[in-house]
Parts: sequence; structure tokens; C-alpha cells
Amino acid sequence: MQQKILVTGGAGYIGSHTCIALHEAGYGIVVYDNLTNSSREAINRVAQLIDAPIEFIEGDVRNAEQLREVFAAHQFFGVIHFAGLKAVGESVAKPLMYYNNNVSGTITLLEVMADYKVKNLVFSSSATVYGDPETLPIDESSPRSCTNPYGQSKLMVEHILEDLAVSDDDWNLVTLRYFNPVGAHISGQIGEDPNDTPNNLMPYISQVAVGKLEKLSIFGNDYPTVDGTGVRDYIHVVDLAAGHVAALQYLEQQADLATNDLATNDSVTNSSAINTSVGFLPINLGSGKGSSVLELVTAFSEVTAQSVPYQFAPRRAGDIASCYASADKAKALLNWQAQLSITDMCVDTWRWQSMNPNGYCPT
Ligand code: NAD
Ligand code: UFG
Repeated sequence: MQQKILVTGGAGYIGSHTCIALHEAGYGIVVYDNLTNSSREAINRVAQLIDAPIEFIEGDVRNAEQLREVFAAHQFFGVIHFAGLKAVGESVAKPLMYYNNNVSGTITLLEVMADYKVKNLVFSSSATVYGDPETLPIDESSPRSCTNPYGQSKLMVEHILEDLAVSDDDWNLVTLRYFNPVGAHISGQIGEDPNDTPNNLMPYISQVAVGKLEKLSIFGNDYPTVDGTGVRDYIHVVDLAAGHVAALQYLEQQADLATNDLATNDSVTNSSAINTSVGFLPINLGSGKGSSVLELVTAFSEVTAQSVPYQFAPRRAGDIASCYASADKAKALLNWQAQLSITDMCVDTWRWQSMNPNGYCPT
């Protein structure tokens, strides 16, 4: 049977790529997005790429009434919850907006899911919940702490999900902690389209390369790293999308186990029943490898043959020296691991950027 998935925030950067992967894996999708940081054009392009219409509903996850209508009209197996605001600097300036959108929005969604007995969730968390890590690579049991409202909002939602799992065994809450998503679909038709000047490294590099920005500022060259610049775990967005499919397949397997278990134990005794509840399950999605800012800039210039002028600038407030994942849990539980290289990330980013110098906006 084809399972149907509600994809909140499905018009966004990671959501649009995941819609393609979900369709390719045979899932039915309904996208729910208020387009606050995305455009309808992304959905049009996804529909072209999969050669099928997409059910798109413009709506806000804080709108319980509208969500109820969506849940009443569809029988969902689960929800992938991408919808959220993600700019760290903006969250410092507008904390209430971030807590309202990211935390209240998630609570409203969970309440509606509970009412409709849809208790399978894949939540977009972030490596930001690890703060400044004590040890590397970072595994899922590393201590969590955050220094900005965006990160706090992700951590708060994680705590809410943990409490929910304790309260009721029926919840299956896979919490994917993304490291640094970059890259674009191989077609060059969809990619990351920041509203203003990018905050993140890869879109900044590609906008310098395409001539929209003059020069990259590298924030800090005195970190205790291979070349003094910050080290991160870059993960191709297409790999990330595959990680969501793997998470859903895992949830389906667990649901099947629970059904089989019930059937076998029906006539015997329930005391031998295996606990197939997933509960709160945090999983890192990263490549497991760290790359420095200079390494990424050099790789981008080499593989695209574009020059990326840069200057060194002071450290950016709140930045850490190094952050990269242990991706062992994803491999063990989801049978997922990153496949695409830094070269792929640069080539695909450049294809998207050069084919769409203004992103989804035609002028
Ligand atoms: P994005 O901004 O491209 O996508 C988020 C989507 O959610 C957008 O389409 C936006 O319009 C929508 N949205 C926001 N608030 C909404 C609301 N209240 N109701 C309905 N729709 C709403 O961001 P992305 O990079 O695709 O990130 C997706 C998720 O992953 C976010 O939750 C983000 O915090 C998380 N994340 C992203 C990164 C990253 O570097 N891109 C890293 C870690 C975690
Ligand atoms: N950097 C520069 N110049 C720039 C932009 C970034 O030198 O113009 C450097 C940063 O100092 C850092 C590295 O490039 O060393 C990566 O910075 P990003 O802003 O691309 O990514 P961050 O690791 O700071 O943060 C990102 C997301 C967060 C998320 C985190 C972990 O922005 O939301 O990854 O997933 F929480």
C-alpha cells in the first residue's frame, strides 16, 4: 500500500529535495507550507522533475483549524516536519518570532497529529543542539546546549518530543540532527535560494563565483584547526533527502513488527510482546568528515574553474572551531550513509547557481 506523508515546509530547500526522494521511493506526498521562506516555483519545479502533480496546501503549522482539515481529508502514515525559521542572527533579534514559529508551531502540529492518531514523525533538528562539542566526532549521546534562540527552539522541541515519548508508547519520533546541508539537485532546477545576502558559507561562495557578491569574508583564521579556519561536516542535500526516506522506511518496519507481534501474541500471551515503540530517536545526518572553510573554497574554485576572491575577517560571534558527526547510528539503524563527495556538492551547487543566478525569481 502506498503510504501518504505530510511534508511541512516541503517548499523549502531540504523539503523540496526530500519530496523528490519520497516520490521516487513510492510515497504519496502532501506539502504544507506558508511560503514564508520559499516560493511556489520550487513546488512547480519538483512537479516537473517527478513528472506528476503535487498536492500543495499553503498554510501555517500554527493554524490548528487548517491542519485539522488537512488531516481529516487524508490518511497519513506520518509527518516530516521541516517547517521552521532557521536564521541564527535573526533569531537573536526576534526571539519571540522564533519560539512562536518553531516551538508553538510544532506543539500545534503534534496536538493535531495526536487527535488524528498519526504518531509517526520525522523532525528536522540540527547539530546546533550540540553547542561547542567537548569531543569529536559528535555522537548522539553528546551533551546538548545552545547559545541562540534558533538553537534553543530546536532543543526545546527535542525536549518536548522526549516527554511525549515517555507519556505514550505509541509515538515514534525520529529526530534527525543535520550537520551542514549544501548542494542541489543534479538537474540544477532546485536548490538553496536565500532571501537576502546568505549567512551560510556555500551559498555565499556560489554568489561570489556568479558575480552577485564581491568577496567572501572568512570568519577567523586562528582556530585550532588544520589551517586555522572553521571545520564543518558538509552533507549533500540529496543525501540528506535519502536520510528522510530511510527514516520513514525504518518507521514502517517498526510498525510492521508491531502488527506481526500483535498477531502472534494474540492467542498466546501479551507478556512476551516485543516493545517495537521507537519513542524519541535522535540520529545524526552527517558525512562524518570535517572540511575547513579554506578547503571548501579551494575545492569549489578547482571543480568549477571559477575564482572566489576572499579576505580573512574576525571570528563570527557564536561560531565554534570544529564540528563533525559520528554517522554510525544512521548506518546501523537506517542503513544510511552519505554517498556524495565535496566535489559533488560544489559541482551541483554551481550548476544550480549558474542556471538560476537569481534563484527562483526570474529577474
Ligand atoms: P527553508 O527555510 O528552506 O525551509 C523551511 C520551510 O518551512 C520554508 O519553505 C518555509 O516557508 C516553511 N515554514 C516556515 N515556518 C512555517 C510555518 N509556521 N508554517 C508552515 N511553513 C513554514 O529551510 P531548510 O534549510 O529547508 O530547513 C528545513 C528545516 O531543517 C528547518 O526546520 C531548519 O531549521 C532545519 N535545519 C536546517 C539546516 C540548514 O542549514 N539548512 C540545518 C539544520 C536544521
Ligand atoms: N563562514 C565564513 N564566511 C561566511 C559564512 C560562513 O567564513 O560568509 C564560515 C563560518 O565561520 C563557519 C563555516 O563557514 O566556520 C560554516 O558556516 P555556516 O554559516 O555555513 O554554518 P554553521 O556551521 O555556522 O551553521 C549551520 C547552520 C545552522 C545549523 C548548523 C549546524 O547555519 O543553522 O549549521 O547544522 F545549526
